[in-house]
Amino acid sequence: MARRFSEDKLIVASHNKGKLVEIAELLTRFDVETVGADELGLPEPEETGKTFIANAELKALASATKAGLPALADDSGLAVDALDGAPGIYSARWAQTPTGRDFDFGMHKIEMAISQKQSGETSPVPRTARFVCALSLAWPDGHVESFEGTVEGTLVWPMRGKNGFGYDPIFLPLGGDLTFGEMAPEAKHAMSHRADAFTQLVEACFVDHIAR
Ligand code: IMP
Repeated sequence: MARRFSEDKLIVASHNKGKLVEIAELLTRFDVETVGADELGLPEPEETGKTFIANAELKALASATKAGLPALADDSGLAVDALDGAPGIYSARWAQTPTGRDFDFGMHKIEMAISQKQSGETSPVPRTARFVCALSLAWPDGHVESFEGTVEGTLVWPMRGKNGFGYDPIFLPLGGDLTFGEMAPEAKHAMSHRADAFTQLVEACFVDHIAR
């Protein structure tokens, strides 16, 4: 059985503003105070893992053991079928430019890679993709619980919408008409990879926690 979360304070071990906001929104129904790793001056460890879960675990453990508080970390990304799962765990790095992260640049890079792949093929390459999110909850004693969520979809071009963050403007969830970039935050939260992982986390670790 998974370890239950019974504390009242939790570090959100992420330095990504978009993720911090989404995780805080997902946690609002629980009586738990969240604090960002940034606010505690915790360093961001290097993401050396080969899977989403390995990276989420190393981020959660680094914060929990350093600060002596439970910590929740997210590692997520976009896996494109035509690109054999890239950018995947390197989704943030694909948007890296000499002056910082630029997701317009990252989205163009994905579209160019798909076009390049298409140029060597006679039939249309699939535009299917999924967002994947690993959530790890770690305690200061080194115990960790991890969950992985996904949402299936296709990639549109050009980009659509200004909501959300990262690759949201090119991701059209399966069966929908709006990209994640066009959806209201609540609509994205109802179906996202992060919400899927979060539901699993709540069922395993937060069942006894007081809901607001
Ligand atoms: P990391 O988990 O910090 O390595 O970064 C994952 C990257 O994947 C983010 O910087 C985003 O570019 C992308 N990503 C993860 N989740 C989402 C999402 O919900 N929407 C859009 N992009 C996302």
